[in-house]
Amino acid sequence: MEIVICEDAAEIGRIAASKIIDLVRRKPTAAIGLATGSSPLGIYAELAHAVARGELDMSRAHGFALDEYVGIELEHPQSYYSVIHREVVERLSMDPARVHVPDGRAADLHSACDAYEEAIEQAGGVDLQIVGIGSNGHIGFNEPTSSFGSRTRVKALAPQTRADNARFFDSLDQVPTLCLTQGLGTIMDAREVVLVAQGEHKADAIAAAVEGPMAAVMPASVLQGHRYATVIIDEAAASKLQ
Ligand code: F6R
Repeated sequence: MEIVICEDAAEIGRIAASKIIDLVRRKPTAAIGLATGSSPLGIYAELAHAVARGELDMSRAHGFALDEYVGIELEHPQSYYSVIHREVVERLSMDPARVHVPDGRAADLHSACDAYEEAIEQAGGVDLQIVGIGSNGHIGFNEPTSSFGSRTRVKALAPQTRADNARFFDSLDQVPTLCLTQGLGTIMDAREVVLVAQGEHKADAIAAAVEGPMAAVMPASVLQGHRYATVIIDEAAASKLQ
């Protein structure tokens, strides 16, 4: 696991984006695993600049969102379908047909999860997976005690996650209780994983994920076992590392 400590969010965005830019220049059809939430916004902003300057062409790249809420309308501004289309597909001029989000409105959610795994496989696997980290150590929505071998599946959101994400909704009771998420096993299959985090509220989770034991109670600790995992964080998020 490589740890990169940055001065600020802008530097995190630049360093993480440069990995994606190098990858897509080398492999224009690369598959990128896409996180939502606040942490990766700096990455998407950097990539959008590179696209606008004509230095990056994402039109043949594939995208796979990490997760989606269950039961939320696609058009809801906080559905991850909407967020990914707004923050990533449009700004990076990606081909919407190549960008996938788990179907949280499917009548059969379990089949939708299997179909998602199959779509990733058909694209040749994820080349680079971006992840954020929850204050409880989740990656994707793999909440504490998720199996390290888990695949895309239905999960209940932890109360802490619903409270953390209430800032995106009008009130806590509007935050969905269920989601579809890539599993920890799915994330670990990516050829490279880049975790980004900012702020003191992430410091405990970062310390436990990077320096604690690999354990299902701290899902992000699974990344200690990944050959190419990079943790790119600011000084506040790094403040509890030994
Ligand atoms: C989002 C996701 C989550 C977030 C995490 C951190 O697709 O899978 O794991 O990355 O909850 O969220 P932020 O970045 O908003 O602090």
